[in-house]
Amino acid sequence: MNFKLSLSLIILCANMASFAQIQQKPISQRVDSVLLLMTLEEKIGQLNQYNDDWTATGPVTVDSDKAKQISNGQVGSLLNCLGAERTRSWQEKAMQSRMKIPLLFGQDVIHGYKTTFPIPLAEACSWDMDAIKLSAQVAANEASAGGIHWTFAPMVDIARDPRWGRVMEGAGEDPYLGSLIAKARVQGFQDEKLGGINSVMACAKHFAAYGAAIGGRDYNSVDMSDRLLWETYLPPFKAAVDAGVATFMNSFNDINGVPATGNTYLQRDILKGKWGFTGFVVSDWGSVGEMINHGNVKNRYEAALCAITAGCDMDMESRCYKNNLTQLVNDNKVPLALIDDAVRRILQKKFELGLFDDPYRFCNAEREQEALNNPEHAKIARKVAAKSIVLLKNENQLLPVSKNTKTIAFIGPLVKALKQNKGFWDIEVPGVDSNFIVSQWEGVQNCVSAATKLLYAKGCDIEGDNKDGFAEAVSVAKQADVIILSIGEKRDMSGEARSRSKIGIPGVQEDLFKELLATGKPIVVLINAGRPLVFNFIAGHANAILYTWWLGSEAGNAIADVLFGDYNPSAKLAITFPRSVGQIPIYYSHFNTGRPATGDANHHQNSSYLDESIFPEYAFGYGLSYTSFVYSDLKLSSAKIKSNETLEVSVTIKNTGKYDGEEIVQLYLRDKVGSIARPTKELKDFSKIALKAGESKTIKFAIDKEKLSFYNQKLEWAAEPGDFDLMIGASSDDIRLKDTFELLN
Ligand code: BGC
Repeated sequence: MNFKLSLSLIILCANMASFAQIQQKPISQRVDSVLLLMTLEEKIGQLNQYNDDWTATGPVTVDSDKAKQISNGQVGSLLNCLGAERTRSWQEKAMQSRMKIPLLFGQDVIHGYKTTFPIPLAEACSWDMDAIKLSAQVAANEASAGGIHWTFAPMVDIARDPRWGRVMEGAGEDPYLGSLIAKARVQGFQDEKLGGINSVMACAKHFAAYGAAIGGRDYNSVDMSDRLLWETYLPPFKAAVDAGVATFMNSFNDINGVPATGNTYLQRDILKGKWGFTGFVVSDWGSVGEMINHGNVKNRYEAALCAITAGCDMDMESRCYKNNLTQLVNDNKVPLALIDDAVRRILQKKFELGLFDDPYRFCNAEREQEALNNPEHAKIARKVAAKSIVLLKNENQLLPVSKNTKTIAFIGPLVKALKQNKGFWDIEVPGVDSNFIVSQWEGVQNCVSAATKLLYAKGCDIEGDNKDGFAEAVSVAKQADVIILSIGEKRDMSGEARSRSKIGIPGVQEDLFKELLATGKPIVVLINAGRPLVFNFIAGHANAILYTWWLGSEAGNAIADVLFGDYNPSAKLAITFPRSVGQIPIYYSHFNTGRPATGDANHHQNSSYLDESIFPEYAFGYGLSYTSFVYSDLKLSSAKIKSNETLEVSVTIKNTGKYDGEEIVQLYLRDKVGSIARPTKELKDFSKIALKAGESKTIKFAIDKEKLSFYNQKLEWAAEPGDFDLMIGASSDDIRLKDTFELLN
């Protein structure tokens, strides 16, 4: 086989050692022995990544000689190349090259491959690390069987601006929750360790602060203090490094005037320096070349120089490296050692994935079929989807709806939709019907009793102003005992390049709601969206609201499970829902200010608006259950702790309702006095517990110095002695129990 030829070269170089002996050598030695044999052009080839022929998210350069470049060893990686068959055919081309270095196949496997899971923001609302990890594992299992070695996920950008379309792709606003989720996703994709057949490389993106784009406009600049960067935006990236993430992607934005792609402080000083990251960094799509537009470099030659110097190892699609690095080395602008370091990092991962031992190990059509048709995956997706649905309102316990209800009117433009349920970043897997989705209609139909009459009317489209369907919807509603209205965004209204300045419910859907409301029938609203929307009228007038986000291929089943009580909703919001766009950015962990916001009308005395409440519609951490929980017996092991001691906190939670359920018990701290002002609340721990109806459990938290520390003025991570408020709640705005303690010197 061809790859054995490349090994024979290495074998020669290693003084005629046997193949088995070579395999036993530490990877770093094997990498060095390959590097030794490479020409400069071949090295630069490894730093070059091309798009294949799939959906592109940026300008595509079409090279008529792509195949030739690959067989000449001028390309190190392809993205958007799917399926065992196609990846194999490209790999065969790479095996024709002199060095026979295997290609890496990268793909945006963001929330599932064939089996689509809820969008990442929805999953984040489960606060369930096992579920989140499992979802990534299933995605990795299917993707790796389809030839993929590398997913461009997780996106760990903190996002506090729902106008930004990519809020859907992250884990919300909080650095603590975001860090745990980053870890769970990395571990899920990489299956603990690279090298297994079900493991793909994860990629923590977008480094850094991409989520803080000014005005929520995608790709926009970021202007941010170092303190905010370290305290809020970097922790999930650090958590990804600690979890062993194989790769990083830098980002499109500039930060304080320096594009992230050419940012030495971020990539060399922090990531590869302070954090000791040993993997490699890929640019975002074309972002090396885009530094010219940013106004930081004159031409592509300077762009390549800036990016490689700053620590960006691989150039996605801009071809700046390919066309300029040789010259830069010859001009003594880029030391060979810098190129070698980047190549070494990439080869290291190719070895870890086992590609030098078998470049085709992930392109196995038989295994692909097996993974894509594994019935367990749909079952897992259904469970994860149910865990991601947030119950926002449930007046008079309208939900769960009885399966024996005589007549249900299921109305709205999303009831029978298929693909909409997938949300942005779904994948068209070759040979798979992209409508392989359980619609909401199908899910509900499968769930209700045979005697239930299920009526349908579309009512209107998601967008546009056509109200022709209203009359039919009202007439259907009048015949029903309960109305279920499914409305929201289109799947591509949130996602990359999907920023919106108005984040209300699109089109005439809210008008449809008003017409249905006028019938006087009880009304449950399902809101399908990729971001927090503003829907105050519905929030005030619907009897029940489920925020379903985009739930993926099992959406219909999961929604039915929740609507009819087979699953008691347990999710809590991972991001604040504003009451109006004017409140943005809005997040729970704000400072107190000199004139604290109390919500009263004395505007000179508090930081507020003349024309809007300062409070969100729904706070971070909020979410209801069909049952109720009572919190009691908050106990602290001591009123004072030394910095080397741990404070033990215990609290008892009782399920006082008639349904079994899960509660996410949240622990917040406030450091009362700090050399840098501290937020009024910071999530520091939580516990998701299952309780049978009537059952109670005592749960424990441990508070150590780490949880009390923050970045001080010198940007040192340290705890300052003094008083702390400890708050235990069901949401950031529903604190049930409080106490204080002191950290001693
Ligand atoms: C996005 C990245 C993505 C890449 C490759 C870019 O436009 O910002 O998140 O991984 O495209 O598709």
